[in-house]
Formats: sequence, C-alpha cells, structure tokens
Amino acid sequence: MRRITVLGATGSIGESTLDVVRRHPERYAVHALTAHRQVDKLAAQCREFRPAHAVVGTAQAASELEALLRADGIKTGVGYGEAALEAVAVDSAADSVMAAIVGAAGLRPTLAAARAGKRVLLANKEALVMSGRLFMDAVREHGATLLPIDSEHNAIFQCLPADDPRLGAGVSKILLTASGGPFRTRDPATLHDISPDEACAHPNWVMGRKISVDSATMMNKGLEVIEAHWLFAAPAERIEVLIHPQSIVHSMVSYADGSVLAQLGNPDMRTPIAYGLAYPERMYAGVSPLDLTRAGALTFETPDLARFPCLGLAFDALRAGGTAPAILNAANEVAVEAFLQGQIRFTDIARIVAQVLAQASPGSVDTLEGVMDADQDARRRAGALLESVRSC
Ligand SMILES: NC(=O)c1ccc[n+]([C@@H]2O[C@H](COP(=O)([O-])OP(=O)(O)OC[C@H]3O[C@@H](n4cnc5c(N)ncnc54)[C@H](OP(=O)(O)O)[C@@H]3O)[C@@H](O)[C@H]2O)c1
Repeated sequence: MRRITVLGATGSIGESTLDVVRRHPERYAVHALTAHRQVDKLAAQCREFRPAHAVVGTAQAASELEALLRADGIKTGVGYGEAALEAVAVDSAADSVMAAIVGAAGLRPTLAAARAGKRVLLANKEALVMSGRLFMDAVREHGATLLPIDSEHNAIFQCLPADDPRLGAGVSKILLTASGGPFRTRDPATLHDISPDEACAHPNWVMGRKISVDSATMMNKGLEVIEAHWLFAAPAERIEVLIHPQSIVHSMVSYADGSVLAQLGNPDMRTPIAYGLAYPERMYAGVSPLDLTRAGALTFETPDLARFPCLGLAFDALRAGGTAPAILNAANEVAVEAFLQGQIRFTDIARIVAQVLAQASPGSVDTLEGVMDADQDARRRAGALLESVRSC
C-alpha cells in the first residue's frame, strides 16, 4: 500500500490523480491533500479519501475547511500557507508526492519533496524550469525517484531505455509533440482580439486556465523543452518540437540507428498519472484504449515561430542558462494572469516576456533564494510593463 500526498488536489491534474487512486483502493491511501482557495471541493475530497492532513492557502480558508469537516465528524488536520505545504510534502508518513500545484508556487514544496527522498510525480513543470540543476541535484543527492507526469515527458520516459532514462549513446533526438493549441490555423492578424475563454478552449485537452493559455501561446511547449532538457540531460539542439494536431502521439525518441519510438494514446492525463503511480508496473487508468482505425490521419509539421514567439523565447532562455528560464517563467505567469483578468491582449503576453528577458541579466542557479530573487525581480519588471501596455 502506497501513501500519497496530492499537492494541488483540486486542480485538473489533482482531480485526475484522485480518479485513478479511487479505482485502486487496495494499492493507494491518500495521506494529504492541498488546495489554495477551493475549500468546498477540498472538503468533498476529504470526505471521500479521509486524509490525515489538508492544507489551504489562508487562515480564513483553513477555518472554513475545518468547520465543514468537523460538522461531518472528519478528523483531518487542517493547515495553511507555505510552511504547511512543505510540511506535508516532506512528511515521512507518505512515500509519494504528486506535485500538481500550478506555477511558481509549486517550487518550494516540490523541491522539499525531492530533498525528502520521495517518489515525486512531477506535473508542476515550473519547478524544474525555474530551479533546473538545483532540483536535479536534490533528486540525486537525496535518492528521490522522479517520475515525469507531463504527457510528453512521460511518453519520452516510456520510450527511453529503462536502465538509463537519460539521453545516452544511441539516442539522437527527443521529438516533443505539440497540438498547436486552438490558434494553429487562425489568421495571425486576428490574434490580438482573442478572449480568455477562447484561449482556454483547447481542442484536445481539458486543463487548468493557466496551462491552457500557455498551450495557446505555445509557451507551454517552451517550458516543456526546458523541462525535457533537465529530465533527460538533453541539450537544446537535440530537442525538436513537432506540431501534431491530433494529440495521439505524445512524444517520440529518435535513435542513431534510424529507429523512432513513440508512445500513443487517447489524450487523457490519467494515462501518464497511472504510469507514474504504478511505475514500474502498469495498471488500469479508466482511459479507453486507442482505436487506430478510428483515429484518422496522424500529421506532423514544424512550428511557425512567427506565430508562436513564446516557443522561440523559451529556447533563447534555455540557451542563455542560469536563471533565464526562471525569469521567462515569472514574466509569463504575470502576463498570463493579466490576460486572464482582461487587462492585456493575447499578443501582449509574448511582448512582455521578450522585454523582461531582454532587460534581465541571468545569474547562476546555486540556491533557492537566488532563484526566488530572479523570480521576484522578473515579476516586478513584468508588472511595470503591464502598466505601459495597458496605457497603449
Ligand atoms: N492540466 C493538465 O492537463 C496538465 C498537463 C501537464 C502538466 N500540467 C501541469 O500541472 C500543474 C497543474 O496544472 P492544472 O491544469 O491541474 O492546474 P489547475 O487546474 O489550475 O490546478 C492548480 C492547483 O494548484 C492549486 N494552487 C493554485 N495556486 C496555488 C498557490 N499559490 N499555492 C498553493 N496551491 C495553489 C489550486 O488550488 P485551488 O483549486 O484551490 O485554486 C489547484 O489545486 C501545472 O504546473 C501544469 O503545467 C497540467
């Protein structure tokens, strides 16, 4: 019986994780669940899974949750804030941590779980994008097991040799597939008029709003390129992005002998989640098997960097190294939030990220504090740019 903590339980990945866990009560017990604001949803999850601990964002949210749980006689301990998040991430009573908080907020607890030597199921790509080497060193030094949950990285992990899941001799390239999002064929002249709801309407995947916007700008793929670099020790020139609108091939590995191995499946995050939970075994995920006779044609094309400037910016940040990816990520988070709030246009997102990257001078990624300083500085710069964009 594995005991699992789900960071970000009320989100899209968190709910999918609990859906898989629910199907295997003989294999998994839920130790802790966390959310930020969605108290009612977290209370419902606590009623079903009876975790020892639940964590929310604020004291107010914690007292609301506590009242709901006590009214039902549920004894789950309730905490709030960053320290409580880190405490459940390192708690020795759990062996596995699903890292599914969205954005930079996931970095501290995810890194803490790695430093506590957990099986870390990594959905929160931002943690690795921001802290790269620091995170991978923590995994190695503390004997953590890192299992990629992002569907692309999970696919690559499945296609690489089991004895060395890093890019080694015989592997020539990682082929990272991307759906191209909802605006792949839209007239570029109309991109500035896109509404947040249009940007969040992904053609193939149901996801949280931030990652949905990132998919529409292809910043999501850019963050995944950086994630792949760290997970598989792959230099930028050995990572290629391919647009594959059907989202059936989740990524591929190209080998020196001409072979290409691909992982295919219906687009449903429960597949990589179940793979990560059961690894190295496999188990039922609730996902219907892929019927290739009905899938239709599978097509691949090169991304247009003029239409998707965020993808090029992410490659630039990866090549610049140091804290440049953390700066890219922070500027993007500020810009995406402003877009979701209706404060800036869709096309301003790339403009703001590019300007912040151009202004900043990246430092080295030696300490968490250094990474957080770069993050905060980039947020200030992006915030100042929002003002000028708004007044245009
Ligand atoms: N969704 C996908 O299909 C998918 C695929 C691959 C990778 N990922 C990655 O997985 C992560 C989660 O994505 P998602 O789509 O599941 O996001 P989501 O639906 O927006 O859920 C985010 C979760 O994080 C919590 N949260 C938000 N802000 C927080 C904060 N400041 N502190 C602590 N917790 C906070 C939310 O709590 P509340 O609900 O209470 O706000 C929620 O539980 C992201 O890093 C994303 O890039 C997602």
